[in-house]
Amino acid sequence: MKDLEQLNQAMQAVMQAARAQVLAKMGSQLTVAEKTSRRDLVTNVDHSNEDFLVHEIRSLDPAAHILAEEGTGDQVASMQGHVWIVDPIDGTMNFVHQRNHFAMMVGLYIDGEPTLGYIYDVMAEKLYAGGPQVGVTLNGKPLKAPADLDLSEGLFGASSPLLINDRFHMQQITTISLGPRIMGSAGIQISQVLAGELVGYLSYLRPWDFAAGRVLAESLGLVVSQVDGRPVDMLSSGAVLIATKRAQSTILAIS
Ligand code: IPD
Ligand code: CA
Ligand code: CA
Repeated sequence: MKDLEQLNQAMQAVMQAARAQVLAKMGSQLTVAEKTSRRDLVTNVDHSNEDFLVHEIRSLDPAAHILAEEGTGDQVASMQGHVWIVDPIDGTMNFVHQRNHFAMMVGLYIDGEPTLGYIYDVMAEKLYAGGPQVGVTLNGKPLKAPADLDLSEGLFGASSPLLINDRFHMQQITTISLGPRIMGSAGIQISQVLAGELVGYLSYLRPWDFAAGRVLAESLGLVVSQVDGRPVDMLSSGAVLIATKRAQSTILAIS
């Protein structure tokens, strides 16, 4: 295996290549299928991009295990060793209906430790990359840690079902904040927390929705936890909070 810095550079090149392929395919008719419901879509581009990312990761890190949303990877039951977690298109609904506001995400955990993360906002051409040992960059330039603002001092990233159904006190949380913002892509919203545009984001997430974001967020001094403050488990799904330290502490006091 290459060392982490080389791996980081190589993965950024893979993400660039993946973006170019996705953009090229967006010019043609998409094949769209429903997975569990009319709001849970998958396209030919989700599949082809996952195939590409898994193939490239295998050639960079042959002994690794890969957990990929659409099933191209391995059955992963443990976080021991190198585990890559892949979401080939995050925000597929946006991809299909807006041709905008979607991301590609990849995270690497080594023996359970967040190690490398990549969130690519494809249409805005913003690649957030890196990890605790190699630093975090946005399009190759070092990204400054966001200010540790409290919940009342910033906008809050919500998800539609949690806000509509007032799960996990989402209405109270967003009322205390400067206002809710909803994008329909966990990757885009987590990248907005990284950039200091939101003080936090709370959503029901699966491992591939927040694996990359957790690496990047923790590297920048943000906190990632379950909604009651317990640590997240990278192999299960649940309500995940990514926030500044002060916003997290205010939210935990509400919950
Ligand atoms: C979805 C998006 C959405 C979030 C859902 C995810 P997908 O990812 O991130 O914002 O609310 O929970 O499943 O299915 O488009 O990769
Ligand atoms: Ca996806
Ligand atoms: Ca996703």
